[in-house]
Amino acid sequence: MVQRWFICVTVVGIWILSCKSSNSAQTAVKTFQNNTVILPCHVESLGVQTIVRWWREDTLLADSSDPNLIHLPRIKMWDNMSLEVSQVQPQDSGKYVCQASRPAPWGHVTQVQTIEVLYPPSIHSVPEAGELEVNFGDEVEMACIAKGVPYPSISWRMKVNFVWCNLWLKYKPEIESKKSWIHASPGIRAQLDCKVTAYPDAKVDWFIENERVTYSSRIVKFIAGQVHSLVIRNVRPSDYGYYICRATNDLGVSETSIELSGIANAAVFKESNPIATNAYNFIWEVDSYIPIIEYQFWFRKYSTLDRGRDWHKLFIPSGSDAIGPLHGKSFNLTGLTPATYYEALILSRNRYGWSKPSKILRFATEGAARKDHYKVEAAYEGSPLAVIMNDSPTPRSETLNSASIVNTRDSTLSIVLVVFLLSISLEQLL
Ligand SMILES: *[C@@H]1O[C@H](CO)[C@@H](O)[C@H](O)[C@H]1NC(C)=O
Ligand SMILES: *[C@@H]1O[C@H](CO)[C@@H](O)[C@H](O)[C@H]1NC(C)=O
Ligand SMILES: *[C@@H]1O[C@H](CO)[C@@H](O)[C@H](O)[C@H]1NC(C)=O
Repeated sequence: MVQRWFICVTVVGIWILSCKSSNSAQTAVKTFQNNTVILPCHVESLGVQTIVRWWREDTLLADSSDPNLIHLPRIKMWDNMSLEVSQVQPQDSGKYVCQASRPAPWGHVTQVQTIEVLYPPSIHSVPEAGELEVNFGDEVEMACIAKGVPYPSISWRMKVNFVWCNLWLKYKPEIESKKSWIHASPGIRAQLDCKVTAYPDAKVDWFIENERVTYSSRIVKFIAGQVHSLVIRNVRPSDYGYYICRATNDLGVSETSIELSGIANAAVFKESNPIATNAYNFIWEVDSYIPIIEYQFWFRKYSTLDRGRDWHKLFIPSGSDAIGPLHGKSFNLTGLTPATYYEALILSRNRYGWSKPSKILRFATEGAARKDHYKVEAAYEGSPLAVIMNDSPTPRSETLNSASIVNTRDSTLSIVLVVFLLSISLEQLL
């Protein structure tokens, strides 16, 4: 089991709003939304023909010399040159320029009026929900966008909740597959499983020999919780090969390969007992849907000082053409040295070839003292270790399961110091 601990952070910002007057022009007309505003333009014509134009920035709003020029909604110019803005909205806030043009030698004069549409402060945070979903090690940026006329003054207060959970932090898919190798014979049903954990959920695809698996009524995939399975009904020899379970989410891709093969499962030692000071009996079992032709029994003396001795290899006919799926064998190994440590393993052959080796079995002939280091030695080519201790007078057996030796990674609780940088940006809206 993957143990997963994350720190989840909820940041709740509390914004304190208060209104303060801004330094606006004295000619400003302060009003509320939906009101009608009339901006006067005082022109003394002195008998000279005067043209009045109203501008807002570069936009001509009205022109006394051309009443049909434009017809902006909500805006109209009266005969006395006043500009009426009806149903004012926040975006109408700004400077309005009345420009009076007279023929030479007079130039033109301008008057500036300001509309300020008052509306109550409002605020929204980025992200909107006020909660963040972040990846490990990410820099966190939060923003507070305030609106309001007059512009509100803002202060932040932070409340940071640290919650232990495994819920929100995103991580790329991780795959556990119990078996990297599945035995199947033609005609049977085979199931390949891979357990995927990811957040957000991963999409899982199956490939065979690097080609996407073609699903059919015979080859189907299904999902049960976190376990994604590929089921092959009525296996054919053409189904054999390396399958890849590939899990993808927006943080990354993980994959694992599972071999579907006709070769036998690795043998399992069931019993090993001394039958003399120099002889041992072994009983093992093998899963194979087709008959086992023969076994290889490998053994050698075991010593921490002198490792890597050559294995003695015995070829043992299976002596049975049973179809299976379970094949058992009993074998007496004689001619051993008394009071000596040994190790042994088994391989099995059916018509698809030799199986992978069994776990290594360690045993000692009678008279050997018990050694503790015995059980923590490396296994043969990554195959997990089985230990049989002969602790005279009663033989004692002990098997170390692969799970307890290999998966130290998963049981390690790593402590990650996450530094969240809060960069607060207040965006001014005018
Ligand atoms: C302004 O008028 C609109 C449309 O009639 C209305 O939805 C809105 O609530 C009004 N605003 C105010 C502040 O009265
Ligand atoms: C201009 O005319 C409008 C509409 O008749 C009136 O409401 C406004 O008071 C007038 N403004 C001035 C400065 O006379
Ligand atoms: C192994 O040895 C035991 C004890 O001598 C004997 O009973 C048994 O038949 C032998 N088994 C085989 C497979 O030779």
